Order: sequence, then C-alpha cells, then structure tokens
Amino acid sequence: MEIAGRTAVVSGGASGIGRAICLALARKGARIVVADIDEAGGHETVRLVGEAGSQAVFQRCDVTRSEDLVAMLEAALSHFGSLDIVCNNAGIGERQDLFEDETREFERVVAVDLTAVIDATRLAVRAMRTRGGGVIINTASMGGLLPMPNNPVYAAAKAGVVNFTRSLAHLAETWNIRVNAICPSFTDTPLVRQAGEERMREVAQLVGGILQPEFVAEGVVELVEDDSRAGAIMRVTVRGGRDFAKELRPY
Ligand SMILES: NC(=O)c1ccc[n+]([C@@H]2O[C@H](COP(=O)([O-])OP(=O)(O)OC[C@H]3O[C@@H](n4cnc5c(N)ncnc54)[C@H](O)[C@@H]3O)[C@@H](O)[C@H]2O)c1
Repeated sequence: MEIAGRTAVVSGGASGIGRAICLALARKGARIVVADIDEAGGHETVRLVGEAGSQAVFQRCDVTRSEDLVAMLEAALSHFGSLDIVCNNAGIGERQDLFEDETREFERVVAVDLTAVIDATRLAVRAMRTRGGGVIINTASMGGLLPMPNNPVYAAAKAGVVNFTRSLAHLAETWNIRVNAICPSFTDTPLVRQAGEERMREVAQLVGGILQPEFVAEGVVELVEDDSRAGAIMRVTVRGGRDFAKELRPY
C-alpha cells in the first residue's frame, strides 16, 4: 500500500516505538490518529508529526476498553475521512513476580498485550472490510517467539499476538486486509528504561545490543508498503536486522 494520503491509527503513539511509528508514517505522507492513555505524550507526538510535515490528532484511548477502541477508529474517519492503517502497538511490561503476585497483575498484562490487540483487530477489520480493505500491524515482540524466564506472562501474551496474526493471513484474500506483526528485540524506550541502567546493560549484552525505535518503525513502514505480506512475522534484532520468521508447515 502506498502510504501517502492514507490515514493511520497508532495505539501507544505517545511514547517509544509507537511515537516512532507515527513519525515514520507521517514522513511518508500519512495523517495520524495518536491513541494513548498518556495525554501529554500524545499531544507531543501530534506536535512532532506537524513538524514532520503531516497532520495528526490525539485521541485518548485505553485499549482495554472496547468503547475507546471504537472511538479511536472513528476518529480516523471523522477527522481525516478514511481508515487505512491500524497499528496495535500499546503495550505494558510485566513487573510482578508471577509466583508472588497477590494482585493478579498478570491479568492486566494479558488484557493490554493480547486481549486488546484481538479486540482492536476485530473492530478494525469490521470497519475496513466495508471500505475496500486496509493494513493492520500488531506490535508483538521477540519475547513472543522465544522463552522469557523473567517475563512469562508477557511472553505468553506476545506469542498469542504472533499466532493470532498468523491465523489472519487469509483476510488478505477475503477482504483485502493484510494483518502482520512486528517482533522487536530489546528497544531503547521508556518501557525498558524503567528496569534501570544496570538491567539494561545486562540485557543489551545478552541480545547483542539495543535497537533504536526508529529502526523498528522502518520495519512497520515496510510491512505496510509490501502488498505481498499477510500473516507475516517480522523480527527486528541487533544481530539480524529486520527479517521474517519462517512460515510454519501445517502438521
Ligand atoms: N521496548 C522494547 O524492548 C520492546 C521490545 C519488543 C516489543 N515491544 C513492544 O512495543 C510496544 C511499544 O512499547 P515501547 O517499548 O514503545 O513502550 P513505551 O512504554 O515507551 O510505550 C508504550 C505506550 O503504550 C501506552 N499504553 C500503555 N497501556 C495502555 C493502554 N491501556 N491503552 C492505551 N495506551 C497504553 C503507554 O502510555 C505508552 O505511551 C509494546 O507493545 C511493547 O510490548 C517493546
């Protein structure tokens, strides 16, 4: 899909990878709905999109609320008159020790990192199928392809996003909707910075370095532009750059 003149909705657009996606799509000429719970960060992204030469609006959206997701998608139509690209990117890390967690924080991780992606995709498909199609990009993680001993619930949620996305490859044929996922490795954003400098250094050593969000965002642009990709899982790592996870053979 050529990006110029399209409308893109990006959840988690107030920070990190989401902001980089907003700016990368804006530089290609897309108008952007920046959706997030963080209003200050969201308005800053809107300003940066303006600086990048395009237009954006901020839409407050908690992705765990279906009515907010509906409003997020409607914002694209009401402000810009189309809905072409939806990036389900909002996500949270897993902070509690699963076995000591009395607060069931793990349910929140699944709600934001998996259930909301399913809900937003469902709603976006319903909106796009009557408008001739579109592209949906889900931000998963390398943690959805590999075990994460310290973050098992996050890993489970992201693995869910990966296989959910793979399972929707057929929508390219039925409704001209391409659903793809991106799996970044360790990326320099506020989400990982909250772990502290020392932990960041440890993980960076383990995985060969730390990615910049702009490099991940370029992968999203590729996935939007390449009409041959549907149900594709793009990996983004320091050692391997951007490549694709192998398609699995059925049985
Ligand atoms: N940073 C990494 O190393 C890394 C690696 C792989 C995947 N990811 C994924 O990339 C995505 C973006 O993460 P990031 O690293 O840019 O983190 P970030 O914390 O910088 O950005 C996440 C954004 O999501 C928003 N958000 C959180 N909960 C929300 C909710 N309920 N509704 C709406 N918005 C909400 C936050 O306000 C924030 O603006 C996430 O899905 C994350 O899991 C990150």
